[in-house]
Amino acid sequence: MKKLPPDPSRRTLFKAIGALGATGATSGLLSACNRSPGFDRASLTFTEVPHGLDASHHLPEGYRADVLLRWGDPIEAGAGVFDPEGLTAAEQQQRFGYNNDFIAFMPLAEDAGPGDGDRHCRSDSSKRGLLCVNHEYTQPHLMFPGYNDEYSATRGVSAEHVAIEQAACGHAIVEIEKTPAGWQAVLDSPYNRRITLGTEMDIVGPAAGDPRLQTAADPSGTRVFGTVGNCAGGKTPWGTVLIAEEGFGGAFQGDPDAIADPVEARNHHAFGIAPDNRNWGDHDPRFDIGVEPHEPNRFGWMVEFDPYDPESRPRKLTTLGRFEHEGFTLACKPGQSVVAYGGDDDEGQFVYRFVSAEAYRPGNHRANRNLLTAGTLFAGQFNADGSGRWLPLIFGEGPLTPENGFRNQADVLVDVRRAASLLGATPMDRPEDVETNPVNDCTYVMLTKNKRRGADDTNAANPRPRNAAGHVLEIVPPGRDGERDHTSDIFRWHTFLLGGNPNAEDPNERGAYGQQVTGAISPHGWFANPDNVAFDHAGNMWVATDGCEDFGFHDGLWAMATEGELRAAPKHFFGCPQGAEVCGPEFTPDGTTLFIAVQHPADGGRSSFDNPMHRWPDNDPALPPRPSVLAISRKDGGVVGS
Ligand code: FEO
Ligand code: CA
Ligand code: CA
Repeated sequence: MKKLPPDPSRRTLFKAIGALGATGATSGLLSACNRSPGFDRASLTFTEVPHGLDASHHLPEGYRADVLLRWGDPIEAGAGVFDPEGLTAAEQQQRFGYNNDFIAFMPLAEDAGPGDGDRHCRSDSSKRGLLCVNHEYTQPHLMFPGYNDEYSATRGVSAEHVAIEQAACGHAIVEIEKTPAGWQAVLDSPYNRRITLGTEMDIVGPAAGDPRLQTAADPSGTRVFGTVGNCAGGKTPWGTVLIAEEGFGGAFQGDPDAIADPVEARNHHAFGIAPDNRNWGDHDPRFDIGVEPHEPNRFGWMVEFDPYDPESRPRKLTTLGRFEHEGFTLACKPGQSVVAYGGDDDEGQFVYRFVSAEAYRPGNHRANRNLLTAGTLFAGQFNADGSGRWLPLIFGEGPLTPENGFRNQADVLVDVRRAASLLGATPMDRPEDVETNPVNDCTYVMLTKNKRRGADDTNAANPRPRNAAGHVLEIVPPGRDGERDHTSDIFRWHTFLLGGNPNAEDPNERGAYGQQVTGAISPHGWFANPDNVAFDHAGNMWVATDGCEDFGFHDGLWAMATEGELRAAPKHFFGCPQGAEVCGPEFTPDGTTLFIAVQHPADGGRSSFDNPMHRWPDNDPALPPRPSVLAISRKDGGVVGS
């Protein structure tokens, strides 16, 4: 591997991390990813947004943000104006859901119609496409009148409100088009569709049909209603969308210790299922583990669906394992196995990689559609010397045997956390998005925080005890300049940045960024709690945060180069309204529009539907705060960020 000469910014980061005793990480800092010829490190010329905290969103001068889709907006013609106090479950089914998270922009070809994904996914239209948006979870105290706070609401909602919540979760597919007045939803589009907890889907892969996935309603263990906890996701070059099931345990109610099977009791504990969770089980018995102890095993998977075919059935991919999936993103090269990377967003959990059994063949979409149903899942081991290894999660290999409670590959995939731990995977500080930069072909891991990590419990890749601000790692597969071998079982890794204030007195809380030597980092350039990430055409990293209010300012978006003298030197691009986090940054193919999801605005404290902290984005006394997707563009039509 070609090596860049060490630059002063890396030396500063070397010192900062060295002070934490993470010597292993430092060797890697001197040999970052090679620079691709297409890399444009001078492109982030926007005027920085200041840190702040108020009821508005904030953008650089010369930019506009159009509110494209809000909770309750109709996605079908004839659905009418949103009336939150008159909302029914049937109505919600026709409307944009709650707490928008992951966004995929899937271009539409002019010469193709529904069901013709082969043609659509060859389009690079930046004027017409499908916006595919996750709806992660519901917050009844902000959705409905009459609840004083989050605690009372989640534990005591009515049957009617449960039905609305279940229709507000999941996913929305909405055709959008760019008009002279900005982006607009096309309400009479044949593609528009909601996926909710009532949508029937298939379970495929090695765990499908296993007795642990069978229920009274589905003795086959291969069909399930719906998806929940849909956090981030990914998209494939064969035109499908992947959506994650993250915090599914919170949807289930009951006492794991009352379950007769100790394997399932341990399993349910691991995902936070408890008697005082929200009370959906009171009104919908499949969410009561005392009634249906196997139903939780049918959640916690990645779901793949074809947005171009409104009749298609989503599939839960058991090949990708069962955990609190943040998302899975692909690194595809023609003629090679497909590689997908994902994180398990919980303290001390792992980073995963999947390698397909069959090769990706551009143009052969029918064959490609089964690529994610057969292959091998691996868990990441990050060694102190900057090397790393992917550990295969295969039944019968190493400790994954009947002696350790694994009967077959289905057990390995259902209890993949336990399997990865037995193999010696490295416990991480809440892995969120894991995504490959298409320009330098390196993979970046957002580690949002882990306040539970003890001083005796650190490792080179997670060097801070009580990690409140999170950090970002860079994975470098073998190979060079855009030709890295993501199928290799070995890699190098580096600490890309440490979140937090670079001037914090406590060295354990001090952030470390690339720009500290080339010029003092702006007072607004630092951030905490990286969650989602996207890359622009120049290979710049755009990080969305979830937790900066703990540091006194709004969550938002920060953009930075990944190579060159401004490597890991963030600039603040977008600030959220108070209470919200930013999710799902997604560029159009031409880079002139950036879609973002503003999730849970006005959340926090005693904020409620009746007495909200603010009413963004409508600021209308008749409407509550509403999670919304914004379309951000330059007023002069240029490329966002440049
Ligand atoms: Fe749903 Fe990991 O954030
Ligand atoms: Ca997230
Ligand atoms: Ca989050």
